[in-house]
Amino acid sequence: MKLISPSLLSADFGNLERDIEMLNASECDWLHVDVMDGVFVPNISFGQPVVKHIKKHARKPLDVHLMIVDPGRYVNDFKEAGADILTVHYEACTHLDRTLHAIKDAGMRCGTVLNPGTPVSLLEDTIQLCDMVLLMSVNPGFGGQKFIENTYNKVKQLRQLCDRKNPRCLIEVDGGVNTSNAPMLFAAGADVLVAGNAVFKSENPLQTIHDLKQ
Ligand code: DX5
Ligand code: ZN
Repeated sequence: MKLISPSLLSADFGNLERDIEMLNASECDWLHVDVMDGVFVPNISFGQPVVKHIKKHARKPLDVHLMIVDPGRYVNDFKEAGADILTVHYEACTHLDRTLHAIKDAGMRCGTVLNPGTPVSLLEDTIQLCDMVLLMSVNPGFGGQKFIENTYNKVKQLRQLCDRKNPRCLIEVDGGVNTSNAPMLFAAGADVLVAGNAVFKSENPLQTIHDLKQ
C-alpha cells in the first residue's frame, strides 16, 4: 500500500481551513494530526478543540499522533474530537496492551509509535493488537528535521515481524520524509508516509503529494 498522510503541523494555523481544503482536493489519503503536550516532547502544538475544528473541514480520515504522556487518559476525548486512527507512543504507555484495546473498543484504528531509539523487537507481544505501527524517523517534537537513515533497517525489521505475526498491520514512517527518500521507504516496506515540511513548504503542494505517491 502507498498512502500519504500530510502533517498539519507544518500548515498555516491562521489559515487551517484553506490548507485542509487543499488536502481535500489533493491525492493524499489521510490527514496527520500531531498532538504535543510539552512534557513527552519539548514542544506544545494543540489539543482536542483544534482537532474538532480540523474534523469539521476534513473529508479524509484523521490520523492522530499523540505525543503526550499517559495517552490512555484521553482515548475517548480524541474519539469525540473525530480521530479515525489513534497512535500512541510505546515510551509513553505504562499499559500499552490496555491502551490499544481501549482505542479499538472506542471504535478507532489503533497504532503504536516507536521513537528512533526504541527497538522494533519490543513490539513482539503487542504487534497482534496493532492496526499500524508508526516508526519515527526523527526525534519527535518538531517539523522540518533531518531524516535518520537507520529508519530503513527498522522498516525492514518491522516488515519481517508483521509478516510473521500480523500481516495486515500497516507501517507508517514520520519525520524528514521527502520526494527523495519516499521511494526507498516504500521499497523497504512502508505503507504510509507522513510529510510536513516537504508538502507545506513546497512551491506546489498538490504536485509534491502526487510525487510522494509515485
Ligand atoms: C514530528 C511530528 C511529525 C512532523 C513531521 O514530531 O510527529 O509528524 O510534523 O514533519 P516533517 O515532515 O517536516 O519532518
Ligand atoms: Zn507525527
